[in-house]
Amino acid sequence: MKFFIDTASLAQIKEAQDLGILDGVTTNPSLMAKEGISGTDRVMKHYVDICNIVHGDVSAEVISVDFAGMVREGEDLAALHPSITVKLPMTRDGVKAIKYFHDKGIKTNCTLVFSAGQALLAAKAGATYVSPFIGRLDDISTNGVQLIEQIRTIFDNYGYSTQILAASVRHPMHIIQCAEIGADVATCPLSAILALFDHPLTTIGLEKFLADHKKAAQQKVSAK
Ligand code: E4P
Repeated sequence: MKFFIDTASLAQIKEAQDLGILDGVTTNPSLMAKEGISGTDRVMKHYVDICNIVHGDVSAEVISVDFAGMVREGEDLAALHPSITVKLPMTRDGVKAIKYFHDKGIKTNCTLVFSAGQALLAAKAGATYVSPFIGRLDDISTNGVQLIEQIRTIFDNYGYSTQILAASVRHPMHIIQCAEIGADVATCPLSAILALFDHPLTTIGLEKFLADHKKAAQQKVSAK
């Protein structure tokens, strides 16, 4: 399973990239706003900065809601860097734009997917990625991880090459569950990725190994 980081923070992207396990980045207008990035020139430069840090696909979301606007914006974004994946919303115009970009060989990520039917439409239009938002479904007492399972079955039934990109991941168990089901990608906050490293037995075990090593070294010195 590929690991993407779900942030527009350059510092967090660098930190994840330095771990050696990062495969890409997803952003959205809310994440860009959180970093204080606004205005077309700054937004475009920020995407290039992200692409220069990570070796993998970087989702850049359009803010237009009509087909013509999405095409215009998406073409400008795609021209920035070969890693750019144009992120389009699950709407009628969004799906039309996915088909347009697919025919032009431009990568797309269909965002705001909350049902298997929506995922099927995105796959039929030729989306590179489909992004089911599992955390937001959990928030309304619906099982988000089950949606990943349903989409996996449908895509496998027909051999769709669209990759399932589990989004709105909130905690490490979401990542494990997505990996068990066979999601192609999980896009995660840095905190959820870092939480995967932790296990109390690893910490205790390492402390013991180091203490034993120190003790043996001290015994060797006193035996001289
Ligand atoms: C990713 O592509 C989505 O924009 C993101 O995962 C949404 O996450 P949230 O529900 O935590 O805002």
